[in-house]
Amino acid sequence: MTISPAPHRLSTKIQFPSSFQWGVATSSYQIEGAVAEDGRTPSIWDTFCRKPGAVHDGDNGDVACDHYHRMPQDVQLIKSLGVDSYRFSVAWPRVQPGGRGPANPAGLAFYDRLVDELLTNGIDPWVTLYHWDLPQELEDAGGWPNRDTAYRFADYAMMVFDKLADRVDTFTTLNEPWCSAWLGYEVGVHAPGRREHDNAIRAVHHLLLGHGLAVQRMRAAETTAHRFGITLNMGTSDPATDSQADREAARRADGMGTRIYLDPLRYGRYPDDIVADLAARGTAFPVQDGDLEIISTPFDVLGVNFYFGQDFSGVDEQGRTEDDNGHPVVRSILPDTARTAMDWPITPERFTQLLVRLHRDYPGLPMVVTENGAAFDDAMSTGGSVDDDDRTAYLADHIAAVAAARAEGADIRGYFAWSLMDNFEWAYGYAKRFGIVHVDYETQTRTPKRSALWYRDAIAHYKA
Ligand code: FCB
Repeated sequence: MTISPAPHRLSTKIQFPSSFQWGVATSSYQIEGAVAEDGRTPSIWDTFCRKPGAVHDGDNGDVACDHYHRMPQDVQLIKSLGVDSYRFSVAWPRVQPGGRGPANPAGLAFYDRLVDELLTNGIDPWVTLYHWDLPQELEDAGGWPNRDTAYRFADYAMMVFDKLADRVDTFTTLNEPWCSAWLGYEVGVHAPGRREHDNAIRAVHHLLLGHGLAVQRMRAAETTAHRFGITLNMGTSDPATDSQADREAARRADGMGTRIYLDPLRYGRYPDDIVADLAARGTAFPVQDGDLEIISTPFDVLGVNFYFGQDFSGVDEQGRTEDDNGHPVVRSILPDTARTAMDWPITPERFTQLLVRLHRDYPGLPMVVTENGAAFDDAMSTGGSVDDDDRTAYLADHIAAVAAARAEGADIRGYFAWSLMDNFEWAYGYAKRFGIVHVDYETQTRTPKRSALWYRDAIAHYKA
């Protein structure tokens, strides 16, 4: 079967250097399946999926895309897209079951084979060490609010590094610590599903500490130069109006979403305004002597995940500036534009805005877009194609937004589409499809959507 790519939106005005890194991204729990094989123990997501009502339709990652058993074919699929790189994550409970003690050779062997398979096919592996699958035993011992988890993470990172550093150049520590801390411990819509404000703040600090400890140890152990980094999810946080309340809400949202991560990472301090906000609520980051030096250990690349930008209002729908608990209102207002299947607004111009702002406020830090993409309600045609021109348009407009930010001086060195293929979309289960490749979960058949073919052609075009 031949599917022709969407013909539109290959701009001749946009340019990227030949060194620009083009890729696709996935994560372990979202695609691997094989949750009880070769010594893997449960992660917090295995547990969370069993909690009634936690995940759409009671879905779980037991099988997912069965990537654990189909890895060589999936590498061929990646190769067919003509990308330079593949970003994947390593499952901690595969490599170190239970999160303590020795490495599990059978678990490490999977990633060893994956890396070899990628390199044999000319694809550069990009490792994410933690994309949310914390070993359940570590959550039972307190999870990220427990300081010890940071040290456990650094031990685990070294197991992966020792095994793969001879062939892998780029190791990023955490994917989106905001989601781990905020969605996992404050709002409770992600694993482990706790709603504990103090512990969410503790989780932020210990995630950052784990990152710093891991970078320090990997750097000390390397015999050739590697690229170390961290991936943050960020958007834009503009005030919905120029009112004092809305500007205040935007400040808080930006502080909690972006600055409490990047200020300590880059400048070795938490932002004063947020420290004061937290103090007003009787909370503080559990900083011990030397922590901020560890957290601000220099690193080489900032991974940026972008999906949409939003505005903020300090007034709720009832006109109040404080909620029932007496906390200031920070209400997200979604820009009035077309939406994806996640109901997320499509805001490519905010992407440029974010990248230029990061370049301005945190200069000297090369960036790579480690995730960008969209879910749409794809339908397979009777001819067997998925004509997802909406996704193609999303990708084209966001790639153009990256080019625009580069033209304004932002140092962006690569772009990874999220995601290689449809997969387990966390609390949304299998209902939301972010892949540029369609997955039939009954048969595990992979079918490149038109957007995948467009992406392949776009990469070839921009590289030429
Ligand atoms: C990001 C996650 C990724 C995927 C996309 C849609 O927050 O890192 O795993 O779920 O959103």
